[in-house]
Amino acid sequence: MSAIFITGGKPLYGSVRTQGAKNSVLPILAATILCGGPCVVHNCPDLLDVNTSIRILRHLGCPAKREGAGAVAADTAGMNRFDIPEGLMREMRSSVVFLGAILSRTGEAVMSYPGGCDLGPRPIDLHIAALRQMGAEIREEGGYLYCKAPKFTGCDIYLSTPSVGATENIMLAAARADGTTRILNAAREPEIGDLQDFLNAMGGRVTGAGSSTVTIEGVRRLSGAEHTVIPDRVAAATLLSAAALAGGDIAIGDTRPEDLATVLSVLAKAGCDISEDGREIRIRRDGALRPMGRICTMPHPGFPTDAQALVMAVACRAEGVTMFSERIFESRYRHVGELLRMGADIQVEGRVAVVRGVPKLYGARVCATDLRGGAALAVAALAAEGETELSGLQHIDRGYERLEDVLASLGADIERK
Ligand code: EPZ
Repeated sequence: MSAIFITGGKPLYGSVRTQGAKNSVLPILAATILCGGPCVVHNCPDLLDVNTSIRILRHLGCPAKREGAGAVAADTAGMNRFDIPEGLMREMRSSVVFLGAILSRTGEAVMSYPGGCDLGPRPIDLHIAALRQMGAEIREEGGYLYCKAPKFTGCDIYLSTPSVGATENIMLAAARADGTTRILNAAREPEIGDLQDFLNAMGGRVTGAGSSTVTIEGVRRLSGAEHTVIPDRVAAATLLSAAALAGGDIAIGDTRPEDLATVLSVLAKAGCDISEDGREIRIRRDGALRPMGRICTMPHPGFPTDAQALVMAVACRAEGVTMFSERIFESRYRHVGELLRMGADIQVEGRVAVVRGVPKLYGARVCATDLRGGAALAVAALAAEGETELSGLQHIDRGYERLEDVLASLGADIERK
């Protein structure tokens, strides 16, 4: 089993670009099914989850492959299956967004419940209720979903919580439905806007992404399209947190600062000097790290749950107390036990974590237990005294394209062995 070895204490300098957004690529690759033709998606990072989506497309009879620098080409004309094997479903949570797309294309789908990071219970009741409301018959039996939808009919769907995945699944199901679908209390995450842009590039009629009402006018036909996915805001937040904690001066190119507003304001509060120039963010930190007050994770445009662990790593070295309140997922503090091994002072009570900054973190043997929690351990190790051995890399590789190479290019002492 390989591990990443990090010797802390080196500030970061230099410039890097942000990878494409994993959480955009996955629903966009599912959307290619809707057009039954050739599509090219640019800026697709080389990640386990993206490769799983490619494998799902191939299983469905749609040739899909990487092409050149970061593009994925998929031709969904010859799609000849409507099932996804359990092994592929379990590899990632996003496999469930294939449901709306497969049903729309073939009128039938069979799949098991999806996998993904263990962040506490992750139900798919909103997905299922919405698809039923649009006309699907869905039978749940033995961990499997057996679905039929000879046609989808547009309607108003109110989401009791603004679920990202449910919003995407409904958009996919509605794009070719009869009539107009309105998603009320829709997720407002930037990735919803990216999916809207791709559907419209294929000839869809989707408006409202970024607001809490997304409207999808069903069209009869969609056709193949080319699209470039947006930058990954969580990958950028990871590099920002790394520079905040390790210190130094880095520039992160190909970002969308507007997608990172809450993270940037929290890191500025910690004492980082942050400036923006178009699509580049520069972050410098050489003074003491200050505590960041109270941070509550919220749906976008609130502070993202995906950045909670990363900023917590920064808080571990601040001169004072930072309090986190995790409001999206029930159990997203699995990194805390590992940070404690590195000398952090964190107390968790239910959904609240109180972090008292310590003067030093120490290198230790730690294990990633989920994607962002694992990246947070790499960030913490950059400022720890001595060597950290970070295992559980299969979690990190789901969402980061060679995280160790990116950090090494900024001067970190980091190596995968
Ligand atoms: C997406 O997950 C992201 N994943 C997650 O990123 C991210 O943490 C999350 O949105 C929140 O921003 C992808 O885009 C692939 P949700 P998703 O449905 O769609 C509850 C990462 O690290 N809920 O918005 O699964 C749910 O339990 C990953 O990149 C229901 O109750 O999240 C949670 O409490 C991890 N019923 C809340 O809604 C449902 O049917 C938000 O979940 C669906 C969701």
